[in-house]
Amino acid sequence: MKPLSTRTESFTDSVIRRMTRVSDMYQAINLSQGFPDFEPPKELTDRLAEVASVGPHQYALTWGAQNFREALAKKQEHFSGMEINPNEEIVVTCGSTEAMMAAMMSVCNPNDKVVIFSPFYENYGADTILTGAQPIYVPLKPPTFEFDADELEAAVKQDGVKALILCNPSNPCGKVFTREELLMIAELAKKYDIYVITDEVYEHIIYKPYEHVYMATLPGMRERTIICNSLSKTYSVTGWRLGYVIAPADICERVKKVHDFLTVGAAAPLMEAAVTGLLFDDTYYEELQNHYTHMKNLFTDGLKEIGLRFTEPQGAYYVLLDISEFGYESDMVFCEDLARKVGVGAVPGSSFFREDVNHLIRFHFAKRDETLKAVLDRLADIREKMKK
Ligand SMILES: Cc1ncc(COP(=O)(O)O)c(C=O)c1O
Repeated sequence: MKPLSTRTESFTDSVIRRMTRVSDMYQAINLSQGFPDFEPPKELTDRLAEVASVGPHQYALTWGAQNFREALAKKQEHFSGMEINPNEEIVVTCGSTEAMMAAMMSVCNPNDKVVIFSPFYENYGADTILTGAQPIYVPLKPPTFEFDADELEAAVKQDGVKALILCNPSNPCGKVFTREELLMIAELAKKYDIYVITDEVYEHIIYKPYEHVYMATLPGMRERTIICNSLSKTYSVTGWRLGYVIAPADICERVKKVHDFLTVGAAAPLMEAAVTGLLFDDTYYEELQNHYTHMKNLFTDGLKEIGLRFTEPQGAYYVLLDISEFGYESDMVFCEDLARKVGVGAVPGSSFFREDVNHLIRFHFAKRDETLKAVLDRLADIREKMKK
């Protein structure tokens, strides 16, 4: 048999999915894969039930149902102040995952380079490989996750750099980029003429006093920013697979074509049901923020009580726990032991870093109170249980 594609040869099994299997094996409470264990807003599921009987059930327009795009344009305009043409500047995709792939395919040629901050969401590495581009990593240095402006410029100015991927707020480190940092990135993007592809799936999960600044709203950035986002996290519907690209019309024209060939379109009945969510008023987003702040405080207060060290998230729903005190050389082995001996599933931080970082593991806390309390109970005597 001829060998399968060399491009996909280097792909490893997703570490997050692997840790989910490890968690299941030891009946651990799984805080590795980031999805909520609570229900989406009832308005959405009620509407979905109605749609099940009345439709639509056939293909929507390939770049997304008209009412979905119109509602989305209004919502985005409301929060960002950007003016968006729903017919020319939005492509609805199957999750932000497809949005990012379609954006990358639209921008990159094989051997182009793409700048990625490390630690990074694991799909970005795969996206660059699938497009044939080469990733260049710029470290966000723990524990503050700041970047060095000179290091960033050295990366961006390399020959062949076409784009920078900006995950803001960041998974896994919970960083919310400040306006000053974004302005610095924007200046470099303009100076070296590159695109910025944003991943803003956690835009509404931000902890005060931090605030989300949209890269596309900074001076001169609208024309070179490709926003990738989704409804997964904002409406607790990770399984609905509804995402989108927002970009200037000429870029969207290309993204539409890539998207059409990749997936034809997002699920029509789910788009129809999700319009209900896009039309929610500000109260919904305030409550979402309060709910996440509550979960974050419950979890991090518990960690503090146990005396564990961790990074306080500014946004998104992850905590990086510092495991240096346990003396493990491998964070992967630590996570396997944690699932087996303590009964809690986490992701080894090394799977997110390009640099040699082995002392952090990631928990997510988008969980019901009783789940988080059960985790904290299990972690209470972690030092005893994880003795080597
Ligand atoms: C930073 C980031 N981007 C994208 C995704 C995937 O989003 P979607 O469900 O919209 O494909 C996730 C999921 O965890 C994520 O953390």
